[in-house]
Amino acid sequence: MNWFKLGRAIRTTIRTGGVSALRGGCCMSPVPEIMLNNGQKIPQLGFGVFLIRPEDTADAVTEALEVGYRHIDTAEMYGNEKEVGEAVARSGLSRRDVFVTSKLGNDAHRPDDARRAFDQTLKALGFAYIDLFLIHWPLPMRYDGDFVSTWHTLAEFYRDGRARSIGVSNFQAHHLRRLHVQSDIPPAVNQIEAHPYLTQDELRRFCAEHQIAVEAWSPIAHGGDLLRDPVIRRIAAETGRSPAQVVLRWHIQRGDIVFPKSVKSGRIRENFDIFDFELSGEHIAAISALNRNHRIGPNPDTFPG
Ligand SMILES: NC(=O)c1ccc[n+]([C@@H]2O[C@H](COP(=O)([O-])OP(=O)(O)OC[C@H]3O[C@@H](n4cnc5c(N)ncnc54)[C@H](OP(=O)(O)O)[C@@H]3O)[C@@H](O)[C@H]2O)c1
Repeated sequence: MNWFKLGRAIRTTIRTGGVSALRGGCCMSPVPEIMLNNGQKIPQLGFGVFLIRPEDTADAVTEALEVGYRHIDTAEMYGNEKEVGEAVARSGLSRRDVFVTSKLGNDAHRPDDARRAFDQTLKALGFAYIDLFLIHWPLPMRYDGDFVSTWHTLAEFYRDGRARSIGVSNFQAHHLRRLHVQSDIPPAVNQIEAHPYLTQDELRRFCAEHQIAVEAWSPIAHGGDLLRDPVIRRIAAETGRSPAQVVLRWHIQRGDIVFPKSVKSGRIRENFDIFDFELSGEHIAAISALNRNHRIGPNPDTFPG
């Protein structure tokens, strides 16, 4: 099936930015779910574990699960998949109630290496399957620029059921176009750097047109200057919310998936507590107008140089 037919098949459920926001999967969760282009659902808010030391990861994830997060974003590169798996196992939650994403290491793009790396990810997590597995970076300067073979290898994991969904990260529109031409299976998500200083409007539009859900990494831009921005602070004062909550709510209302990271109890809770208020259209526009195309992370077209 080509991507456009697939898009038509799920169009009845599409309402926001190419994906649908459905109210919570679990009876009690306030977190909306996004329907991916293969019919799987993903909680729109999750918990990221980049730069959480392995020895701190199980406790942080345990705390997040206690607060109510049901979506964890890790990667082979973060070195803490094992501890994520341990926290899920000891939570007492059913495996199917926690959505876990991991990503392929940059040294494992060749098909046989990718197969070995995927086996290792499942083993480290202690899972029989993963909810979402991503190519972490397109690496156009490596492997003769051949991320398409890597994508075909992820499609094997999808077909054999060990990856419930597959997707990409840090792909630009021209990288996605190559997959579009060379594969029948579209990425379920594209995980990209996005926040009010890097709104990624064009790439998000491309993803919406192709029914690829957008995941915004570093959603609060690491909590630095952005949270001190006068516009964010004004809206925080007007809504009685923290700057981080305002920025996360902006992402949610744009329809993107987010997973802020924190090792601090108060912030893990604060970042979850964003479903009982709404930003006005004026607020959304004012935050979007902060865009300055400023990246915190590397440029996917040149990384690693
Ligand atoms: N695909 C990719 O290439 C890629 C790249 C980067 C990140 N990611 C994913 O995206 C997730 C989130 O991105 P990120 O960790 O880079 O950045 P982020 O979530 O935007 O920001 C995390 C930083 O903000 C602080 N923070 C968290 N909540 C806060 C709050 N309420 N108020 C003030 N400061 C707060 C944290 O400090 P404390 O921990 O001290 O609270 C931490 O230093 C990652 O964990 C990872 O899962 C993916």
